[in-house]
Formats: sequence, structure tokens, C-alpha cells
Amino acid sequence: MKQTNQVVWITGASSGIGRALAQAYAAKDARLVLSSRNRQKLEIVQKECISLGAECLVLPLDLADSKDFPARAQTVIDTFGRIDILINNGGISQRALIKETPIELDRKIMEINFFGNIALTKAVLPYMIRQQAGHIVVVSSIVGKFGFPLRSAYSASKHALHGFYETLRAEHKSDHIRVTLAIPGRVKTQISVNAVLKDGTPSNKMDDGQDAGISPERCARQIIRAVQKNKKEVLIGKKELLLVHIRRFLPGLYYRIVDKVKPT
Ligand SMILES: NC(=O)c1ccc[n+]([C@@H]2O[C@H](COP(=O)([O-])OP(=O)(O)OC[C@H]3O[C@@H](n4cnc5c(N)ncnc54)[C@H](OP(=O)(O)O)[C@@H]3O)[C@@H](O)[C@H]2O)c1
Repeated sequence: MKQTNQVVWITGASSGIGRALAQAYAAKDARLVLSSRNRQKLEIVQKECISLGAECLVLPLDLADSKDFPARAQTVIDTFGRIDILINNGGISQRALIKETPIELDRKIMEINFFGNIALTKAVLPYMIRQQAGHIVVVSSIVGKFGFPLRSAYSASKHALHGFYETLRAEHKSDHIRVTLAIPGRVKTQISVNAVLKDGTPSNKMDDGQDAGISPERCARQIIRAVQKNKKEVLIGKKELLLVHIRRFLPGLYYRIVDKVKPT
């Protein structure tokens, strides 16, 4: 289904789920804003989107440095006149035990995955209030629903997003601002390769679980469907999602399973 020239701003658009979202929205005639740190990679995605017929602005930003976000939002408004959908997708994961992770690294992960994420939303929110319309999509994770070894700050940052955006949904319902929390399990992207080790360097390793995950294109299709249906939350993945339901309905069984998990 084609869908109308909506202005869709995607963070983490240079890779994985964000790139697949950009391509899928391009095929729906959206006007796209592509953000992440790496301009060159964004320009490759821009070319792909333009070849699909979309208008497309590359707007690099670093989620760890949010001071210019109001100016970035103004640039989008100057270019396209409005912001219909903001997809807060950019982020980094972690592969390090709590006991060996320096607090500076915990703060860095929180800065990128939580504070940077909400700072961009705060920059966009006044325009959505003025429009009396808008949809904010947040790409969380199943570890935003429960903790998991080696991902302490990552899991905490995703949990924090749930609290923030459930509050935003409640505060801005009357402004017709919608919120969808997308909760992927395993998606075959570079997330584990880019995940930081205890010294802050990337793991450079594709996890077996990641490798067996669903494609980013499939993940993107499910996120877009959830946005169209105004779902408050959507779980995306394969059998790993069972753990979310077990955690909720059979917590005793959940803790027995987690005791046996070999962290990777
Ligand atoms: N893949 C999975 O299994 C999975 C599961 C659950 C949740 N997720 C979530 O899905 C989202 C997308 O990840 P992905 O799987 O597509 O991984 P990915 O391929 O590693 O993509 C991550 C994206 O985030 C951007 N990014 C990283 N640090 C950034 C920063 N400081 N400032 C701005 N952008 C930054 C990267 O772009 P640059 O390097 O150009 O900045 C890249 O575009 C993440 O929030 C992740 O937590 C993924």
C-alpha cells in the first residue's frame, strides 16, 4: 500500500533495521530524513531511497551529542514543513559483565540509547504539538523487558525508554501524538559486531543468535505495520519472543531458564 508523502525521520538509518525502514518507507513515497553518524553510509542509503522514488535528506547526528538537536529539527521543518513520524532507532549494544564495565561506559551507553534518543524527541515534540499530530516510534529490545547477561547498561537503557515513552503517550494523547514501542528479539544486523566490550571497543563478532535472526527487512515491515495500526507495542522476532511471555505469565519458569543461559 502506498502511503502519502509522510515525512519520516529515521535515526540509525545507515545500517540494519534503520536502513531497511528507510527503503520500505521510500517505496511508500515517504519524504525521508536519514540520520546517524556516518555521512558516507547515509548517502548510500539516500541513493537507494531516491532510486525508489523518495525525496531524501541526509542529516548526520551523534546521539551522544544532543546540543544541536533543536537546530536539526528546525532543518527538517525548513526542508519539508512538518515531521509526521520520528523513528528513534539508532543505538549500540554491549557485551561485558557488570563487574568489569567501567561506569563511564555505562554512562556512554545510556547517553546514546536513552538521553540522545529522548533529546531528539524533545526537539521534535513542539512541532508535533503544533501540528496536533505525529507518531513517535521507539526501537527497544526484548532486553527492555528483562535483564540478560553481558548487556546490563544496554538492557537498562531500553527499560528506561519504556518508562519515558509510556509517559509521553499519556501526556500527549490529547495532542494526537502516538507512540509505538517496537520490541525486536534477534534481527540479523551488525548490532552484535558493533556492541561494545568492557574497554569500549567494538566486539567485531557476529553472535550465533544474531546470525540466526530474522532479516532487517522483515523487522522493518512489522514495525511499519504496527505504526499503521497504531499499536502501542509490537514484539518482533522468532522463538526468542517466548521468553517475554514466560517472564510475564510464568516468572518462576523464566528464572529457571535464565539460570541456565550461557551468556554470548
Ligand atoms: N539487531 C537486533 O537483534 C536488535 C534487537 C533488539 C533491538 N535492536 C535495536 O535496533 C536498533 C537498530 O540496531 P541494528 O540492529 O540495526 O544495528 P546496527 O546495524 O548496528 O545499526 C545501528 C545504527 O545505529 C547508529 N548509531 C550507533 N551509534 C550512534 C550514535 N552515537 N549516534 C547516532 N547513530 C548511532 C549506527 O549508525 P552510525 O554508525 O552511522 O552512527 C547504525 O545506523 C538499535 O536501537 C538496537 O538496540 C536490535
